[in-house]
Amino acid sequence: MVNIGSLWQYLALHSTLSGDSTNTNNTANNLAKMGLAAYTLPALPYAYDALEPHISAQIMELHHARHHQAYVTNLNKALESHVAAVAAGDVAAQIALQQVVKFNGGGHINHSLFWKNLAPAGSEDASVAQAKGLVAEIEKTWGSFDGFKTAFSAALMGIQGSGWGWLVKEAGNGAGLRIVTTKDQDPVVGGDVPVFGVDMWEHAYYLQYLNGKAAYVENIWNVINWRTAEERFAGRSEEKTEL
Ligand SMILES: [Fe+2]
Repeated sequence: MVNIGSLWQYLALHSTLSGDSTNTNNTANNLAKMGLAAYTLPALPYAYDALEPHISAQIMELHHARHHQAYVTNLNKALESHVAAVAAGDVAAQIALQQVVKFNGGGHINHSLFWKNLAPAGSEDASVAQAKGLVAEIEKTWGSFDGFKTAFSAALMGIQGSGWGWLVKEAGNGAGLRIVTTKDQDPVVGGDVPVFGVDMWEHAYYLQYLNGKAAYVENIWNVINWRTAEERFAGRSEEKTEL
């Protein structure tokens, strides 16, 4: 179960993922009056067609400009309503809004991480050679890199309904690697560091792959950003700095 207190902290700490707010709508203005910055949609670090042929431009544009934008918009609305509910002392409304914040806040966090852990196939960033430290730990944990890929792919294929698969570096002194899945838009919590994640919602692949989920899982390996993965693993990424 996700601890909502941690999620709030997590959301707050991730606010700079999106950069400064330029949103001038009413929700943003109301949040500003309350001393809160509205979350904004982060720009993709590549063009919509950059991940072709593995992920089509049509999917990327809808996924980023429509789906991710909706999570951001609904997160801001929920935060605005939540602040108003706190001011009004309306505990029932605050409780009702927790699930909305969790869903849309998680959607914002997960997609912000996802875009950055993808890269055009054949690019330097998409080369496993960029992740020497991480790969050594993967081989130690799963016996071989192929063994890890098999285990991770199986975890992705095992997700029922909508969710995400993650390679995480565990919190604590051991800091070992672990494969986890999260349901719907639940983010990774509890101090574990997401090294990379794969969106297993149908909106991530259906327009191109239809019911061929296995082909999407097979092809996603071509567009993993191993430079980003290594940075997160080594604690050098901006997300890690913000945590
Ligand atoms: Fe998605």
